[in-house]
Amino acid sequence: MKTIEQLQVLIDDEIHAQYRILEPRELYEPMWYTLSNGGKRLRPVFVLMGCQLFCDDVRKAALPALGIEMFHNFTLLHDDIMDKAFMRRNLPTVHIKWDVNRAILSGDALAIQSNIFIASCDKDILPDVLSVFNTTALQVCEGQQYDLNFERIAEVSVAEYLNMIRLKTAVLIAGSLQIGALIGGADSAWAAKVYEMGDMIGMAFQLQDDFLDTFGNPVTFGKNIGGDILANKKTFLLIKAREMANDEQRAILDHYYASEDFNADVKIGSVKKVFHDLDIDKITIDKVHFYSQKALEILEEIPVEKDRKVELEKFTRNLMDRIR
Ligand code: IPE
Ligand code: IPE
Ligand code: MG
Ligand code: MG
Ligand code: MG
Repeated sequence: MKTIEQLQVLIDDEIHAQYRILEPRELYEPMWYTLSNGGKRLRPVFVLMGCQLFCDDVRKAALPALGIEMFHNFTLLHDDIMDKAFMRRNLPTVHIKWDVNRAILSGDALAIQSNIFIASCDKDILPDVLSVFNTTALQVCEGQQYDLNFERIAEVSVAEYLNMIRLKTAVLIAGSLQIGALIGGADSAWAAKVYEMGDMIGMAFQLQDDFLDTFGNPVTFGKNIGGDILANKKTFLLIKAREMANDEQRAILDHYYASEDFNADVKIGSVKKVFHDLDIDKITIDKVHFYSQKALEILEEIPVEKDRKVELEKFTRNLMDRIR
């Protein structure tokens, strides 16, 4: 059984093997800049871990796994334009390093190339794999649109938020595990169970990302801290804070989330103080634990030998630790 670290190396080797800057360079350079500049390789590793649950030959999932990583990177190029983010993985985002048009077009190319690699799986499972992938990809767009809609709405409920993050983030993690399971030979019922586990991990993962965007270490997070606050994102932190705030605290939040005219550091500092006073950090961490625990419970139910599950279990436990 391969460890998470070995699976990450397998993905990096696959990226290296596929690396080529074709003409026009302006299209391919940003694609490979993004793919070669690290990232946790979470989703492709999930494809491989899903495969490893049911079979020993994870190599046959390597190219579809790279396809999933390409799709993820496509979403990031476009997401960074939408979120006006200037830093990712401690480097300038593509639309800042080059320009918006190149970020759009190289993102499109990544999305198309991702389809080619995903469709390289065995022909007998291709319809199922493509169905999972295409459904997921469309849901990610739906989630992104809700995320943008919510920037302009003051009242967003926790339920609406959870639906939004399920679509924008959890389904791709869930779909990655399910595609891996299908490649590994799982029957459709167990592949669906694996999806459920991924869904819970994905929810925990986006809640953790929201937490880190406000309370994380800028060096290890690699993105600018406070970006969600500046973009008026309706994160779990903000929604929960508005729910629990007294009149004075709610007035502070609503002032900063409604006005365009503010100093960035003052806005981040003031909002963060309200979050802190209300223990929002602790409440968010508890929510991450809740979803991680659910993921572990589903993993228990999957009827394969224990050692096939070790890495997935380790990953889920690490997710809980990373946030403490
Ligand atoms: C960023 O995903 C987008 C979210 C869903 C939060 P990752 O945190 O997995 O990004 P990289 O690929 O590791 O940089
Ligand atoms: C990411 O949400 C979801 C997708 C890219 C589809 P975020 O906007 O929170 O991701 P980061 O924080 O920029 O990585
Ligand atoms: Mg976003
Ligand atoms: Mg973003
Ligand atoms: Mg984020």
